[in-house]
Amino acid sequence: MADRVLVIDEGTTSTRAMLFDASGNVLASAQAELTQGYPGPGLVEHDAAEIWDKVLETCRAVIAQAGDADGIAAIGITNQRETVVFWDRETGEPLAPAIVWQDRRTADICRRLKEDGEEPGVRALSGLLLDPYFSGSKIGWALEHWPQLREAGTRLAIGTVESYLVHRLTGGLHISDATNASRTALMAIGSGGWDDGLCDLFRVPRRLLPEIVDSAGRFGETLPELFGRAIPICGLAGDQQAASIGQRCLTPGDTKATYGTGAFVLTHTGTTLPRSRHRLLGTVAWQLGGARSYALEGSVFVAGSLVKWLRDSLKLIESAAETEGLARSVTDNGGCYLVPALSGLGAPHWEPGAQGVIAGLGFATSRAHVVRAALESMAHQTYDLKAAFAADGFDWTTLRIDGGMAANDWIAQDLADMLDVPVERPAFIETTAVGAAMLAGLGCGLFGKLDEAATMRGAVDEFQPAANATLRDTRLAGWRKAVTAAIG
Ligand code: G3P
Repeated sequence: MADRVLVIDEGTTSTRAMLFDASGNVLASAQAELTQGYPGPGLVEHDAAEIWDKVLETCRAVIAQAGDADGIAAIGITNQRETVVFWDRETGEPLAPAIVWQDRRTADICRRLKEDGEEPGVRALSGLLLDPYFSGSKIGWALEHWPQLREAGTRLAIGTVESYLVHRLTGGLHISDATNASRTALMAIGSGGWDDGLCDLFRVPRRLLPEIVDSAGRFGETLPELFGRAIPICGLAGDQQAASIGQRCLTPGDTKATYGTGAFVLTHTGTTLPRSRHRLLGTVAWQLGGARSYALEGSVFVAGSLVKWLRDSLKLIESAAETEGLARSVTDNGGCYLVPALSGLGAPHWEPGAQGVIAGLGFATSRAHVVRAALESMAHQTYDLKAAFAADGFDWTTLRIDGGMAANDWIAQDLADMLDVPVERPAFIETTAVGAAMLAGLGCGLFGKLDEAATMRGAVDEFQPAANATLRDTRLAGWRKAVTAAIG
């Protein structure tokens, strides 16, 4: 009997395929790096053809490790959100670069809309803010500036990354799940689909957009020639929503933070649509049987990408693994603070023009102090979110962490110390993939409900807060001063 789930986790910097059994064990996996295009200041692009090639390559590698595709009951797809792909619906070929979520090219468009007083309306309808992060303004910009998109006429299809992958895998289906659609600023978050008013505001013709579907169900089958047999696609979710599900954040108040390329904190709010008064986002946590569950989200744009920048651009370290030892080699940050506003600042500041800052430098500042300041910025950024969540009525009692950076014990303990709450970390930190497997298992009938699938999360380690309040206050005062400088 087929009882395995193949997960495609298409993240910002790499594509992964993983084969899970129904207990959450990983039976096979493969990974491929993705080329990052930085064609100019503030611009970040991907080649969707490369994304597709790497998806095929990693899935085929996993199937080869397993022997064949016969045991696979379903595919679950999870993806970097907000990134938009423009493609030819007849050939599946991209018609333009994919504009990545980090891209700031529409900062002026968003600023003008804000000045015109449009933000309250956008917030009320979509749960989001006016910021270049979201897909709507990116799509409007592309349609205006890339003539080949207009010339493609009815052949043009637009969607987020899961939408593109489903189209290619099935040979033509044009759908997007509600979690991804809720990140475009084009969908009415409360109920219903694409909103005409939002589509008009961002100049996006509705007919170019996919049909919005649930996060689990039998959506379609892969073309048989791709993997040796047709495999049903049964789970779809944006990566942060998938991580939240994989962390078993199924009850209102449950909170997770994923430290991947960026850091994204989601508190589950159940069927209550959150309305933030402190510049957090309302987002769809999942949609099942047409009914939506929600989360309150704080999005931080730079986390793991900071370590990559220290390694590749500043050449301060040779590998990410080195950072833990360097942070431990000094007793404190030596007065050094780093604000990683390398692509503006996200929640709760939303300052697309903010720039990175390294403050408090002196002759006594060492490489270790700068690296420690970089790692400390994870807890500092998360602290700012915690304050905003608490002010919105969702104070965290425990934080469940995951993502590549969460493997660093020093960071996990620093989070517990600075947030003053216990921090839980699953032994298997790729909870994004676990969440996609849970959804696909639900969609194909391996599980009857999401709760039943939650056993896939496995064992957790706990980090207890151990710092005193004076130390926390000193750190936060230094951080706040540096943030003020970053905003300018
Ligand atoms: O919203 C952007 C987010 O989905 C990116 O996720 O895993 O690439 O940091 P990640």
